[in-house]
Amino acid sequence: MTNLQIFLDIATEAALAAGEVLQGYLGKLEDAVTEKGRPGDLVTAADKASEAVVLEIIRRHFPQHSILAEESGKLGNQDNEYLWAIDPLDGTTNYAHQYPAFCVSIGLLINGVPQVGVIYDPFHDELFRGAAGLGATRDRRPIKVSDTSELGKSLLVTGFAYDRRETPDNNYAEFCHLTHLTQGVRRSGSAALDLAHVACGRVDGYWERGISPWDVVAGVILLQEAGGKVTAYDGTPLKIATGRILATNGSIHDNLSRALMQVPPLSAWE
Ligand code: IPD
Ligand code: CA
Ligand code: CA
Repeated sequence: MTNLQIFLDIATEAALAAGEVLQGYLGKLEDAVTEKGRPGDLVTAADKASEAVVLEIIRRHFPQHSILAEESGKLGNQDNEYLWAIDPLDGTTNYAHQYPAFCVSIGLLINGVPQVGVIYDPFHDELFRGAAGLGATRDRRPIKVSDTSELGKSLLVTGFAYDRRETPDNNYAEFCHLTHLTQGVRRSGSAALDLAHVACGRVDGYWERGISPWDVVAGVILLQEAGGKVTAYDGTPLKIATGRILATNGSIHDNLSRALMQVPPLSAWE
């Protein structure tokens, strides 16, 4: 068994265990929901319990590896070539409202490059897995991106980060622009699921600003292995630290990139 296969299997074990925790808390949070700082940026007992389960499994198997987990921050020796990016509950707002779009996302960067990704949607019991050179699967069956090639026939998905009230760079103008150019733009509330849904062809493209590594590392490798393309908005190589990502089926990539580079101001819709 290759190392990547081992990493993939352990990440799967952790994601499934965490998913069980999330299902256990669902609808039972009562007052165990607090704001982290920005309005709307919630953390719940379920985020924390899920993260504890993932950390225990990853650290037990890979004690030397570095970790970047949403609720705990940086753990371990950050100079290690292996860095796990963990979102124990992506879609917390949905989860707190019992809106069924949330998941566990576990990605592994090796020397800064996404190499392994597991995204588990416990509500629908859907498991997405991908690793460099090993392909992408949903419930252990191979998946691939859609073949939609015209932007005008595409369905897209995006998101709005928690700083949206504080910055004019809040993706609202992009949302309006792309809504007019396509068959529709959805906002699911889970960046990791958005990427998984591009990977399996349910939507044709996704873009977002203000995202963190734990939101996207797993989805990036999953999507690449499913035949998709991931870059910066302008089509240059993705830099996760910028918080901006453009991820598509490949066929609409250049046109979506061009559209994102030519967004008219919001006043154009008044
Ligand atoms: C959020 C979700 C959402 C995205 C935000 C993320 P969280 O993650 O992925 O879709 O628009 O930018 O922060 O807080 O639910 O883990
Ligand atoms: Ca997240
Ligand atoms: Ca989260």
